[in-house]
Amino acid sequence: MQVIDLQANGLCKRFGKAAPVFLGLDFSIRQGDCVALVGANGTGKSTLLRCCLGLIAPDAGRISLLGMTMADLGPAARRDLRARTGLVGQKHNLVPRLSVLSNVIHGFLGRHSGPRYWVHSLAPAWARAAAMTALEKVGLADLALRRADQLSGGQSQRVAIARALVCNPRFLVADEPCASLDPQAGEEVMALFMTLVKREGVTVLFTSHNVQHALSYGDRILGLQGGRIAIDAPSADVTPLEMAKLYG
Ligand SMILES: Nc1ncnc2c1ncn2[C@@H]1O[C@H](COP(=O)(O)OP(=O)(O)OP(=O)(O)O)[C@@H](O)[C@H]1O
Ligand SMILES: [Mg+2]
Repeated sequence: MQVIDLQANGLCKRFGKAAPVFLGLDFSIRQGDCVALVGANGTGKSTLLRCCLGLIAPDAGRISLLGMTMADLGPAARRDLRARTGLVGQKHNLVPRLSVLSNVIHGFLGRHSGPRYWVHSLAPAWARAAAMTALEKVGLADLALRRADQLSGGQSQRVAIARALVCNPRFLVADEPCASLDPQAGEEVMALFMTLVKREGVTVLFTSHNVQHALSYGDRILGLQGGRIAIDAPSADVTPLEMAKLYG
């Protein structure tokens, strides 16, 4: 039987008196799927991702993530759910003056709190070991003790990926994970990210303005336009023309 990791029904969201960002979105994401969320600037992709992770509440509608209905969760259950999810943002948001290793250990802060998870020298041995394993996966173990502000953009994004993967999330959201990178670095980071998530069987929802990335890395395309879902189909069935219409 197919397990559904994310189910969204009737999602509506508006900010203040502005026009609604979206109006009654319905979609689902199966376990192990890798879904590309696409649409023009301002169509609500980041807002939708934030709703899916419970970081902001929709005005109406229902989100069920990993079998739990978001609106029904108390603070502890919400924290627990958040610990099973990960987020890679457009800006990597590393703490610049801390080491690469400390930044990866911050990936545990959804699950554990306190200064032991702020800097690597205070972290429990198991957390340091897990962070080193995550850094090995992204090919940066040799830079573990370097300050984060001494990395290139591509290296920083790989550290952000290690931080998102360190606590073995089941569901990962990536909001334009390559947006700040040059084409070559963007390609490398995207390929690495997808290899890792496929290997670990993580369910992924990512956004990209790179149509080629969306079509080649996404198993499915969700296209947003005018507050509604304009495309919800396997990427093999979506033509470049249909994609171009989203931006028309
Ligand atoms: N916190 C907020 N307060 C008010 N308006 C907001 C807020 N966040 C987003 N918006 C508005 O909601 C709309 C959707 O924004 P969102 O960032 O979700 O779009 P997007 O599809 O991610 O765009 P982009 O491709 O540029 O990243 C925009 O009109 C934006 O101005
Ligand atoms: Mg966005």
